[in-house]
Amino acid sequence: MKILVLGSGAREHAIALSLTAEGVHDIVCAPGNAGISAAGIQTVPLDYTSPQTVAEYAEQADFELLVIGPEAPLIAGVADAVRARGIAVFGPDKSAAMLEGSKNFAKEIMQSAQVPTARSAIITVETARQKLDEFGAPYVIKADGLAAGKGVLVTSDTEAAIAHIAKWQPHGRVIIEEHLWGQEVSLFFFADGKTVKPLTPAQDFKRIFDGDRGENTGGMGAYSPLTWLPADFVSTVTERVAQPVVSELASRGTPFIGLLYCGLIVTDAGLKVIEFNARFGDPETQVVLPRMVSPLSEYLLASARGELESLPEPKFASDRAAVVVVLASAGYPAEARTGDEIKGLEEAVQQQGVHLVHAATVSKCGRVWRTAGGRVLGVVGLGADVAAARERAYAGIAKLQVAGGQYRTDIAAGR
Ligand code: AMP
Ligand code: GLY
Repeated sequence: MKILVLGSGAREHAIALSLTAEGVHDIVCAPGNAGISAAGIQTVPLDYTSPQTVAEYAEQADFELLVIGPEAPLIAGVADAVRARGIAVFGPDKSAAMLEGSKNFAKEIMQSAQVPTARSAIITVETARQKLDEFGAPYVIKADGLAAGKGVLVTSDTEAAIAHIAKWQPHGRVIIEEHLWGQEVSLFFFADGKTVKPLTPAQDFKRIFDGDRGENTGGMGAYSPLTWLPADFVSTVTERVAQPVVSELASRGTPFIGLLYCGLIVTDAGLKVIEFNARFGDPETQVVLPRMVSPLSEYLLASARGELESLPEPKFASDRAAVVVVLASAGYPAEARTGDEIKGLEEAVQQQGVHLVHAATVSKCGRVWRTAGGRVLGVVGLGADVAAARERAYAGIAKLQVAGGQYRTDIAAGR
């Protein structure tokens, strides 16, 4: 099959590697990145947030399936435009992608579908003090629209909460949410507009520093499986969260076709949703896909064609664990420095059970590699269990040298 993968990060690198491993497809990544291209996968420069540009390219180059990695093209309506040309698309139309694009819309859907989530309300600078008192500290304040991971503030500082509201209010609605305590779990579902099929749980480490301290980031590491979860976790999330949401969207005439990312928190009072995304998570995908035994392309295509029901639940290896540790550049997440040389890439991949996924690197002729953004690359360790996979990921990252480079040393520790 001729498959076009949109995006330029480590998530797209992981998707492209899984599809390539099936050995029978013609894969192109647009725009991709230097690491994807160094892995021998074709990359094409393309303005991937332009619906018309992508639709024209996909049609003219005869792609049979488009897989959309990041949220920006979804919100821009790239899926709508490509689907309109009769090409199978794994990624929701703009209207269904609002599940990620608007926290307020997501809350409305959850309310209609009776999905458990934190209590919330719209908050404004004018009503701030009263609402903050009502909800109590720690406060969870969320900007309504896409904010590249910067829209959510969790704080006990009243003035900081008010400043965050004032900052985001001009860009759209701001909501306050009840603070939830518990372990966070990401669970992905393939969705074909009517039916869902679960992937396997993963856990993401969002804060920049060890011990979950410091600022929120795009994600500093992840692991899978989560052996500490109850055995019925996946079926519970399927029945209480994913299927009701997909059915609710279908009944509104905005079917969700693509990847439904359920961001969950396991509280003493049961599981609750903290967010939905309309795409594969990053970095969770980098640990979920290497554990997938069933062919990824079959599930992407069946989702795009509305034929998921005919497939069995996808299988994941129980004797293969994965841990990814993200190497970030100096200054990340506030202001990432770029252009630092990365040394030790070859030594890292020579470690047993280690591979790399690139997020923001550039290279001259595949020899000198430099950083080109905040999250630079992910080191993935695979092993028989999480402890073994973790040891390998850290053995790999120890070989890398980048001036000012940062990584967490506690990803998947004790899991
Ligand atoms: P989000 O962008 O909605 O995933 O939020 C980013 C991070 O903020 C989450 O991964 C959580 O760590 C934290 N967070 C979001 N909502 C809540 C909540 N209601 N209670 C506690 N922490 C939250
Ligand atoms: N890992 C969080 C996300 O993809 O949004």
